[in-house]
Amino acid sequence: MGGGIARPAAAAALLLVVAAARATVCAAQLRRNYYAGVCPEVESIVRGAVARKYRETFITVGATVHLFFHDCFVEGCDASVIVASTPNSTAEKDHPVNLSLAGDGFDTVLRARAAVDAVPRCRGRVSCADILAMAARDAIALAGGPSYAVELGRLDGLRSAASSVDGRLAPPSSDLDQLTALFAANGLSQTDMIALSAGHTVGFAHCGTFAGRIRGPSAPDPALNRSLAARLRAWCPDGVDPRVAVTMDVVTPRAFDNQYFRNLRNGMGLLASDQVLYTDPRSRPTVDAWAQSSEAFGRAFVTAITKMGRIGVKMGAQGNIRRNCAVLD
Ligand code: HEM
Ligand SMILES: *[C@@H]1O[C@H](CO)[C@@H](O)[C@H](O)[C@H]1NC(C)=O
Ligand SMILES: *[C@@H]1O[C@H](CO)[C@@H](O)[C@H](O)[C@H]1NC(C)=O
Ligand SMILES: *[C@@H]1O[C@H](CO)[C@@H](O)[C@H](O)[C@H]1NC(C)=O
Repeated sequence: MGGGIARPAAAAALLLVVAAARATVCAAQLRRNYYAGVCPEVESIVRGAVARKYRETFITVGATVHLFFHDCFVEGCDASVIVASTPNSTAEKDHPVNLSLAGDGFDTVLRARAAVDAVPRCRGRVSCADILAMAARDAIALAGGPSYAVELGRLDGLRSAASSVDGRLAPPSSDLDQLTALFAANGLSQTDMIALSAGHTVGFAHCGTFAGRIRGPSAPDPALNRSLAARLRAWCPDGVDPRVAVTMDVVTPRAFDNQYFRNLRNGMGLLASDQVLYTDPRSRPTVDAWAQSSEAFGRAFVTAITKMGRIGVKMGAQGNIRRNCAVLD
């Protein structure tokens, strides 16, 4: 599958309405090798499960990384995003503006958890929140991105509500100040925000998330590369078909690399919130630096995703280890 190829998706296209985020920063005592005593092989079990899923479809990478981001920004990194809705309550993942979380991300977590639970001494000992953090790390590495040691020790959250999503995620039309403020509310710097935005070096976005840049009263967006704009209009003929999604990095869609920043220099950021990182003179020097150095980008990304993994972590009585990641215990 090459750049720009669309995939069918059940989710409706969406444009998010988001206000300021509430800070839920928690300096939790995460650590490497947290499971050394109860399930020392947990990281290799998860890595194996993610690799098997990745061999089935590279959509695994974007879907899992996106899911980790969404989990951490809504209620903290506590696997609340994995919980399924019940007749009584609409879970986080079914918020009307749910960022079209791809099913492959959930499947990756559930399969990795099943692989962990298949080992008797590991059964019921590893949280879904940690499995998602490990799976995102492994997906990034499988796609050629930076490798890093992952901090562990998160418990699973005790609630998951669609209403918690409000105000926690930025709309794709956000400007630099809005993006910076949202990340700051989560204890992340503007530099962290720019590094983490490179999550868009993999994965797909539905036409509706950038439709306003190619058609309508404010189109074409002058910051959008004209040849890319023409391709996007062809790929999204009626603008917002919810079954069509486009690779966010049209040059190296499968690689987790710094091409994202090179694209921004060519006006090839897909979302307005991507391109603004280059358009705005305050963030442009960082984009230029990371377009030139994949090592510098990799270091910044590892710092930032490690900090993201600490957001709103649940400890002690704030959480538990779910028997089934999709069902609250
Ligand atoms: C800076 C603010 C951000 C905004 C406004 C934003 C917005 C979006 C939007 C609109 C989509 C397309 C969703 C769809 O149409 O299905 C998307 C996809 C994605 N986002 Fe972000 N995002 C942001 C930050 C992040 C961060 C921090 C990460 C992770 C480090 C991330 C990782 C992803 C990935 C991997 C996808 C592709 C999902 C897939 O292929 O299923 N995003 N994002
Ligand atoms: C749903 O709500 C009803 C009535 O309040 C309650 O009896 C039932 O146990 C709830 N079911 C779940 C799955 O929480
Ligand atoms: C939320 O996402 C799921 C999975 O992608 C999708 O099936 C569902 O229709 C979405 N919900 C809404 C209200 O758009
Ligand atoms: C548009 O993108 C192409 C690469 O696809 C690049 O060669 C060209 O310079 C870009 N145009 C602008 C104005 O950045």
